[in-house]
Amino acid sequence: MNTECFNDAEKSLPEICFERAPDCGLILGSGWSRVIKTDTEIVRIPYSAISGLGASTVAGHTGEMLLFERHGKSVVAFMGRRHWYEGQGWEPVILPVELMRRMGVQNLLITNAAGGINSCFNPGDLMIIRDHINTAGLNPLIGEVVEGWGERFPDQSNVYTTELIELLRKAANESNAILSEGVYAFTTGPSYETPAEIRAYASMGADAVGMSTVPEATVASAAGIKVAALSCITNMAAGISGPHLSHTEVIEQTKKSAPVMSALVDGFLKRV
Ligand code: HPA
Repeated sequence: MNTECFNDAEKSLPEICFERAPDCGLILGSGWSRVIKTDTEIVRIPYSAISGLGASTVAGHTGEMLLFERHGKSVVAFMGRRHWYEGQGWEPVILPVELMRRMGVQNLLITNAAGGINSCFNPGDLMIIRDHINTAGLNPLIGEVVEGWGERFPDQSNVYTTELIELLRKAANESNAILSEGVYAFTTGPSYETPAEIRAYASMGADAVGMSTVPEATVASAAGIKVAALSCITNMAAGISGPHLSHTEVIEQTKKSAPVMSALVDGFLKRV
């Protein structure tokens, strides 16, 4: 890990970002940026102005950092993420987590779009990630131990904290959102999975599959940040239904689900 790039990124942010530790951090995946409600915007910075981050190359990822207030809370949102499959290494993928850690964030909500493996799911469902399976054989903690990221062998028994999961459940009750819970399998992408892979992940205990979230959650939890994560099930995974998977379908489904996604995130921010 090139930790120098973290120092350069920190220097790109205005001082106001470090004046008060935000009550919550958000990393918003495919289609999730549009669901944010703000009371007061404090700073909005394009990723291109944050050294080492760079614009996301994926449709549906806005590419802005927004510091804002909502329900009297201060929130920092990374709207759009960089992925391992974009080929720039771990630094841009992990940078939002490290910047939030340096800002003093202690509660983090990560969101994504995912393919449904559990046959009880339908496109449009929302799933709390209770646990994950890293199928990629890759881990951003490989390499030297980075200061502030905890010990060499971090415990992963509770990556997604019960305390924050409870806040999501309460937010779902209030908004009448139907919220499932399950295990998320992380793949590198960018190709979607084969039907045989999906059968294998199902037998391993996965309920949904996607190409993100696990790297950020792994680093954040190792660094002592409380993490919760939400998937919008945008399609059923390969071989489960439908002849064809496409990113257009993923984006279309997040548009349809935007009201419920918005209510959940907003209810979470009210309680965090
Ligand atoms: N597979 C992997 N990632 C995804 C999927 C999928 O089916 N849908 C949305 N992101």
